[in-house]
Amino acid sequence: MANLIVVGTQWGDEGKGKIVDLLSETADLIVRFQGGHNAGHTVVIGQERFVLHLVPSGILHAGKSCVIGNGVVVDPGALIEERAGLEKRGIRVRGRLSVSDRAHLIMPYHRAIEKESEKLKGARKIGTTGRGIGPAYADKMARIGIRMADLLNPDLLRQKLSLNLSEMNYFLEKLYKVKKIELEPVLKEYLEYGEQLKDCITDTARLIHLAMEDGKHVLFEGAQGTHLDVDHGTYPYVTSSSATAGGACTGAGVGPTRIDGVLGIAKAYTTRVGSGPFPTELKDDTGCRLQEIGKEFGATTGRPRRCGWFDALLVRTAARINGLTSLAVTKLDVLDECREVKIAVGYKLDGRPLDEIPTDIEKLERCEPVYETLPGWMRPTGGVTEYEKLPAPARKYIERLSDLTKTRIDLISTGSKRSETILLRNLFA
Ligand code: IMP
Repeated sequence: MANLIVVGTQWGDEGKGKIVDLLSETADLIVRFQGGHNAGHTVVIGQERFVLHLVPSGILHAGKSCVIGNGVVVDPGALIEERAGLEKRGIRVRGRLSVSDRAHLIMPYHRAIEKESEKLKGARKIGTTGRGIGPAYADKMARIGIRMADLLNPDLLRQKLSLNLSEMNYFLEKLYKVKKIELEPVLKEYLEYGEQLKDCITDTARLIHLAMEDGKHVLFEGAQGTHLDVDHGTYPYVTSSSATAGGACTGAGVGPTRIDGVLGIAKAYTTRVGSGPFPTELKDDTGCRLQEIGKEFGATTGRPRRCGWFDALLVRTAARINGLTSLAVTKLDVLDECREVKIAVGYKLDGRPLDEIPTDIEKLERCEPVYETLPGWMRPTGGVTEYEKLPAPARKYIERLSDLTKTRIDLISTGSKRSETILLRNLFA
C-alpha cells in the first residue's frame, strides 16, 4: 500500500500518534492535512515521551521527510516553538519539514475572538482547545485569511492585516468589550516568523506529487477524529476542519485516485474531550477507572477526557464515511480489569431502535445506547505482541468489534511503546 491515510474513527485521541510513528518506519513522506496545534499526538520511544501538535509524528524517524499541508491552520509561533523543542531534544527538524505556502495562519485576533465567543455561548459552549482554530478556518472560508506565503510579502501582509483588524477590532471592542489589537506589533511579530520559517515554506502539493511520481510511500496523518469532522461529526460540537479521509485529498492537494488505503484508528473504548453528545459515556466508577488506567487527560489542554464503552455505531459510520480498508484497535490493555465489557450495537430514541446516528443534535443527546455484554478477560494484555497470546475473551472482543464495525482489524495496540503492538498484516505491503 504505497499511499495510506490514517484517520481517527471516534472523537479524537484514539492513539493515532503511536500508529503513525510505527507506520513511518516504512513510509518516505509523512503529511499532516488538517487541524492545527489543537492536536496532541503522543509517541513513546524507549523512556522518552514526545507530544507533537503541528509537526507530523514521522519526524521522530531520522531521515523521513514531513509536510504540513495546505489544509492545516498554522500558528507560526507555536510551530517555531515546537520545532525548537524537538531540536533541543536531538530531533533534527530543519531540512526535513516543509510547510505549505497555501496553509492559513492563526492570528492573535482568532484566539481573542474564540475566547469571547465561547464565553458568550454559555452552557452551549463547544469546549474548544482555545487555539483559535475555528476563527482561522472561518476566515479562510470567508476569503479573508492570511496564508503562509503572505509572510514573505510584507506589503501584502500589511494590507491584509490592516483590513482584517478593522473588522476584527470592531467585534472585539463593540461586541465583546475587550481591548483592540494593534497593527504594528502583530505585523512585526509575523514578519519575524516569516523570516524564521522562510526556508521551509513551499508548494507542498507539488512536493507530494513529485514524491509519488518517484514511487515514494506517502503517509497522511489525520488529526482529531471522524465525529469531530465539520461535516460528518456531531455538529456543532466538532472542530472546524475535515478530519475524514476526503480531507486528506483537499488538505494535501492529491487526487483520490492516488490513495491506496485508509486505516481507521479506534480506541477499545470511547473518549471525548469538550462538550457534545456521547451516548456511551460512563459517569460512574467504571468511567473513572477507564480514565485513570487509560491516563485519559488531553495531551494539548490537560483536560480530563470523558470515558465510555466502545460505540460500534460510531465506528461503523466512520468506516463508511472514510471508506476504511482496515482498523487499528488501540489501548486494549486498559480493559484488562473489567469483569465484563460492553459494546453499543445501536441506539434507542424514545423507545424506538436506531441504527444510524441522528443528525439532529437534540435527538442525539437523548439517544440511549443498546448494549451487548461480553465477558471480560481479567488478565494482563499489556505488551502482548502475538494475537494467539491474547486471552480468549479478549480475542472474542476484538472479533466482535470487527463484525459490528464491518471492518477488518489489522493492528492491535497493547501499550504506548512501539514494541507493544500486535501486527496482523503489514500495512505497507
Ligand atoms: P477546536 O478544534 O479547538 O476548535 O475544538 C473543537 C472541539 O474539538 C472541542 O470539543 C475539542 O475538545 C475537540 N478537539 C480538538 N482537537 C482535538 C484533539 O486533538 N483530540 C480530541 N479532541 C479535540
